[in-house]
Amino acid sequence: MYKRKIILDCDPGHDDAIAIMLAGKHEDLDLLGITVECGNQTLEKTGLNALNICQYLDIDVPVCLGSAEPIIKAVEICPAIHGESGLDGFDFPPLTKKFDERHAVTFIIQTIMNSKEKITVVTTGPMTNLALAMKMEPKIKDNIEEVVLMGGAYTNGNVTPAAEFNINCDPEAAYIVFNSGCIIKMFGLDVTRKVLVLPNIIQRMEKIDNKASVFFTKLMKVFNENQKKVFGFEGGPLHDPVTIAYLIDRKVCEMSFVHCEIDISQGSSYGRTNCDIFNYLKLPKNTYVATDIDVDRYWEIIESGIKKY
Ligand code: RIB
Ligand code: CA
Repeated sequence: MYKRKIILDCDPGHDDAIAIMLAGKHEDLDLLGITVECGNQTLEKTGLNALNICQYLDIDVPVCLGSAEPIIKAVEICPAIHGESGLDGFDFPPLTKKFDERHAVTFIIQTIMNSKEKITVVTTGPMTNLALAMKMEPKIKDNIEEVVLMGGAYTNGNVTPAAEFNINCDPEAAYIVFNSGCIIKMFGLDVTRKVLVLPNIIQRMEKIDNKASVFFTKLMKVFNENQKKVFGFEGGPLHDPVTIAYLIDRKVCEMSFVHCEIDISQGSSYGRTNCDIFNYLKLPKNTYVATDIDVDRYWEIIESGIKKY
């Protein structure tokens, strides 16, 4: 049976953790490795979180450390949402799993260049590792099936009125990737804010009663408390797994093909994903942007992902 080969580049992170869980055991996906960068927390912390998640969930793939800083901007982390550890709310057993020795950028380049089949790159953090890989070895672009990312918004941002966190962390990296000529699939706040982990969702997943449901439940309780404090949301938006859900079932989101430009002007819209949804500018289209999500189908995918553990 065909299994899509994917690399998951992330900065775990509560919702990144659920994306890893969803990708780690799905029969349609072949998770080749996890590459990590700074984002929601420092690289040291996001790296440890990735290792802990893989060890706890028995996901036996290489975990590679990558960029500790964005390309131009200074590091900006997000402890208000993900806590001091970057993944507050779950006590992992003692860690024995080790990092793969390769740098994330080396891993991305080697894996894509050595693959007979095209590889899908999923990003659920800033896009620094992928952008650097594209600059170091531009030929990888020919062997990328598509870049599937959580980031951006064509409506409002979540760190400035214009910008979403992942893109805002490293707008120049996003600029490089969006202008790479690769197929870009963008899942932004416009859809992820529709999939809120409301109390009934926590109860539903808790009932599955396996190691992944315990993981989901404990993490989401803390995630929700923080989302309530920062944004006033009753349930936190489960952003990052939308990327993986889309790879599992393309019907989960409606997509529109648009011209999208990343604002790197360093003004008040720095980091904005300017999506020309109405095609005002008649510029070449470079991005499939998610415009709607089937919320029920999404929770079914998450539920069935948890049941695989
Ligand atoms: O804006 C949402 C993104 O920022 C997600 O990737 C989430 O993990 C947060 O860090
Ligand atoms: Ca993330």
